[in-house]
Amino acid sequence: MSLRLCARQMTRALHAPRVNCSVTRYASTAAALKGSSLPQDVKDSIAREASLATPDPPSSSKTAGLVNQQLPYMVPTYVRPPPMFEKGEGCYLWDVENRQYLDFTAGIAVNSLGHCDEGVVQVIAQQAAQLMHTSNLYHNPHTGVLSKQLIQLTHATGGFASATRSFICNSGSEANEAAIKFARKVGKSISPDKPKHEFVSFHNSFHGRTMGSLSATPNPKYQKPFSPMVPGFKYGTFNDVEGIKDLVTEETCGVIVEPIQGEGGVNVATPEFLVTLRKRCTEVGAVLIYDEIQCGLARTGKFWAHSAYPKECHPDIVTSAKALGNGFPIGATIVNDFVCDHIKVGDHGTTFGGNPLGCRVASHILSRLSSPEILDSIPKKSAVFQKHFESLRQQFPQKVKEARGQGLILGLQLEVDPTPIITAARERGLLVISCGTNTLRFVPPLVISEAEIDKGMAILADAMKSVWVEGEEVKGTKGQQEMQ
Ligand SMILES: Cc1ncc(COP(=O)(O)O)c(C=O)c1O
Repeated sequence: MSLRLCARQMTRALHAPRVNCSVTRYASTAAALKGSSLPQDVKDSIAREASLATPDPPSSSKTAGLVNQQLPYMVPTYVRPPPMFEKGEGCYLWDVENRQYLDFTAGIAVNSLGHCDEGVVQVIAQQAAQLMHTSNLYHNPHTGVLSKQLIQLTHATGGFASATRSFICNSGSEANEAAIKFARKVGKSISPDKPKHEFVSFHNSFHGRTMGSLSATPNPKYQKPFSPMVPGFKYGTFNDVEGIKDLVTEETCGVIVEPIQGEGGVNVATPEFLVTLRKRCTEVGAVLIYDEIQCGLARTGKFWAHSAYPKECHPDIVTSAKALGNGFPIGATIVNDFVCDHIKVGDHGTTFGGNPLGCRVASHILSRLSSPEILDSIPKKSAVFQKHFESLRQQFPQKVKEARGQGLILGLQLEVDPTPIITAARERGLLVISCGTNTLRFVPPLVISEAEIDKGMAILADAMKSVWVEGEEVKGTKGQQEMQ
């Protein structure tokens, strides 16, 4: 038996594993170890684990048993850390060992109203009992209501004023897939004789994993195993204003860009970049698409991230998903008439997309996310995070470089691999993810309280101190930003 396993078993034997009180555990463990004849390194290991609120479940745990039973049946597309979550409420998750974690990830910017929000749960239960799905062969009372609500909210909150119609689907990738197809259709319609099918996106963007959205995601790690990509995709440099003229040409049918790149490292587009892009798209007759799948729906403190930018850069299409369902799979492609005038019956479709259940849930969520209660609370919460980031920068000037982002889509750029910090934080009861290169990403539920932010950031500071100052050794799970 390895010493680490022995230490874990001792720790478990000494304490009731369902009690999430590391202070009590630490004190009683220290007392029990005093008279023990175990080697010092084993004692240290036991003491370390007892000092943690949520040490990763060991190979002898119930969690590991469940994981080992299940993994052989799952296509191995994901790398996951050891805990298994089975319950959520507000900003907290509980694992199958009944231990609580504060969640700064919100299922990658999805659970904006928190986990298992009472209102969302009620709407799902009511609609599930009434009508879930009929397919798009028939009308239902909810798809149109959601479509109209998206347009009206876009207008009312300073989003693109030309928005007229919505196409409802099931995910972010599908929302982008629809946008790409629509742009191609516009290109063919307005330029029937000359080729106009090129599509432009930007380095460090993430638009999804389906072949179209993947072709717009110029990350060799994602694209190479599935090459060749869909023909006609070109890539530019984010925020490179000078490069736009040569990048976007008469042959371009569409340009897709995230106003704030999420996966790419929480990189914020400059107004000048978006305004120039808009101008060039108008000049050559290309459809400008804003992918607001991660940064939209109140995450920046505006209903759409682009509402904060000058009207001169407003797009022709906005894509949305993630928070639109708070965990229920749904996406939307919102278009203006420049686009919609070229889309005809039969051009695109989906079986599940726009079904009564998803649309009723999303309508409820939109009415909540667009409320002043949510929108007005974001800047203050963002400032609390920023205050903590500044303190971390001062505490660890060699390791913490800068903070980026807006509202509650924030990135903390480190000089080093964040994996050990993510692990150390998790073992102290905080879930946080990474993105880009060495960036910690903060996309908590928008309903998080300032006290919860303080609590999480104290855990993060403790994790940094333990790893960077005290040299705590933690096992990391690489690639956590690649799990969506
Ligand atoms: C900006 C952006 N676009 C598209 C997607 C793809 O969405 P989905 O995973 O729902 O297909 C994501 C997912 O992370 C995203 O962040």
